[in-house]
Amino acid sequence: MNDLLTFEEIKNNAEIQTYLEFTDKAFALIGYKEHGIGHALYASEIAERILKYLGYSKREQELAKIAAYIHDVGNMISKYEHDQSSAIMFLNVLSADRYNEEVFAVANAVGSHEDKTTDPVSSIAAVLVLGDKTDVRRERLRAEDLYYIDKHSRVIAACQKLDVIVNKEKMIIELRIKIDTTICSVMDYFEIFMSRTNYCRRASSVLNCKFELYINEDKFL
Ligand SMILES: [Fe+2]
Ligand SMILES: [Fe+2]
Repeated sequence: MNDLLTFEEIKNNAEIQTYLEFTDKAFALIGYKEHGIGHALYASEIAERILKYLGYSKREQELAKIAAYIHDVGNMISKYEHDQSSAIMFLNVLSADRYNEEVFAVANAVGSHEDKTTDPVSSIAAVLVLGDKTDVRRERLRAEDLYYIDKHSRVIAACQKLDVIVNKEKMIIELRIKIDTTICSVMDYFEIFMSRTNYCRRASSVLNCKFELYINEDKFL
């Protein structure tokens, strides 16, 4: 086998697929939003896109894509400290003779993705955070009748459209969201997502970018 770790290898890995599928089924039972392959693909696509537009190398894009894809597999064991279990499960999927700086960089980014108290540790970690924390797609909700169970679900239900745009000239990463204000107010959005918005801002600064948030075309950050 080619020793170079690739996104295709990780995406097609049977263990990783099983972890994501099991997690998603377990979360579905408690009405918790989608955390399976859909979220993994979204996060990896955004992580890759940001590094690509900022001019990072193909290899850095690939590693970020891998990290973002596997970042939540640890939820298979528990939501608590799943960032760390995700990193360990990723290492366990690979045989030790494949460990190298790249593998550790992925594990390191994954292992700290929920630590909102410190800046992301690397560019890989930063785009993983941006891919993860911008995923407020309403299709992650389980069912229409769950939209109104709690405020978090209601805010996600209100997010009609979302876009992450990278402006390389100005070094700005924009999150543009269209909210249905008949479902929730802009204030509700901030109440629920304040800490993740701040985390996106810090992640962007690791990439020497500003983070801007637009809600219904109005600039809030
Ligand atoms: Fe997570
Ligand atoms: Fe996540």
